[in-house]
Amino acid sequence: MANNLLKGKRGIIFGALNEQSIAWKVAERAHEEGATFVLTNAPIAMRMGEINKLAEKTGSQIIPADATNVEELEKLVAESMEILGGKLDFVLHSIGMSVNVRKGKHYTDENYDWTMKGFDVSALSFHKVLQTTKKLDAMNEWGSILALTYIAAQRVFPDYNDMADNKSYLESIARSFGYHYGEAKKVRVNTISQSPTMTTAGSGVKGFNEFINFAESMSPLGNASALACADYCISMFSDLTRYVTMQNLFHDGGFSNTGVTQAVIEKFSD
Ligand SMILES: NC(=O)c1ccc[n+]([C@@H]2O[C@H](COP(=O)([O-])OP(=O)(O)OC[C@H]3O[C@@H](n4cnc5c(N)ncnc54)[C@H](O)[C@@H]3O)[C@@H](O)[C@H]2O)c1
Repeated sequence: MANNLLKGKRGIIFGALNEQSIAWKVAERAHEEGATFVLTNAPIAMRMGEINKLAEKTGSQIIPADATNVEELEKLVAESMEILGGKLDFVLHSIGMSVNVRKGKHYTDENYDWTMKGFDVSALSFHKVLQTTKKLDAMNEWGSILALTYIAAQRVFPDYNDMADNKSYLESIARSFGYHYGEAKKVRVNTISQSPTMTTAGSGVKGFNEFINFAESMSPLGNASALACADYCISMFSDLTRYVTMQNLFHDGGFSNTGVTQAVIEKFSD
């Protein structure tokens, strides 16, 4: 299903760890739609070397960068423009990690050093990416920058832990930076709030299988897959969505606006 929607466009894709990663699917789809891009991830995340397969498949170069490190981001953005031969049209921030979640620390008993680390990786890094591209004047007009988020930013999902707070902050950055970036450079900034999806980051959340099944039964269209999320990202990077900015866009099969479904009601019938 390729329509050349991103023909001639250049970008940077953060966060492809393995074939399950949402960023992996976005890279595959962006390639199909005619884009050229640089792949990046944290140096330690590349140890498995999986990303090399994706680079080969999409004809992309890889530049390692820790998204919490501004110097590494500056190098990444400057080198990407050189490699791709001009300013960028799109950036995907597909990054998330909570040390409290990883180590099974309860939300009411946080280790604040871990909280700060997770906040830096999952939320502040988005501001760092935006600020770096803006300072280096790296985006073309009407360029599109996206981050991925989850509805725990608006509603309580107890086991999502401090990632809920990180996602709230992330979505707020999209609004605030989107204002300034829009006025100054006509660059759009949005977050996509995706259904629970079986990936490395997703499956780190306690009870994730139950979580996915619950969301499935609470969504009129069912859960959106990683590939469907990639399609939505492509449309947001394309010129067909030029006036969408500063939004949190739900991509969840209708979950966010559903109070209850027939399938859930039936579970409670005598
Ligand atoms: N899987 C889900 O259920 C789900 C639902 C909604 C939103 N999301 C969001 O989608 C995004 C992508 O996650 P995913 O589910 O594809 O999982 P994933 O584990 O494949 O991707 C997370 C990525 O973050 C990268 N990362 C971690 N620390 C980093 C750092 N310091 N610098 C640069 N990169 C770093 C990891 O290496 C990995 O590639 C995340 O923001 C996640 O919160 C996921």
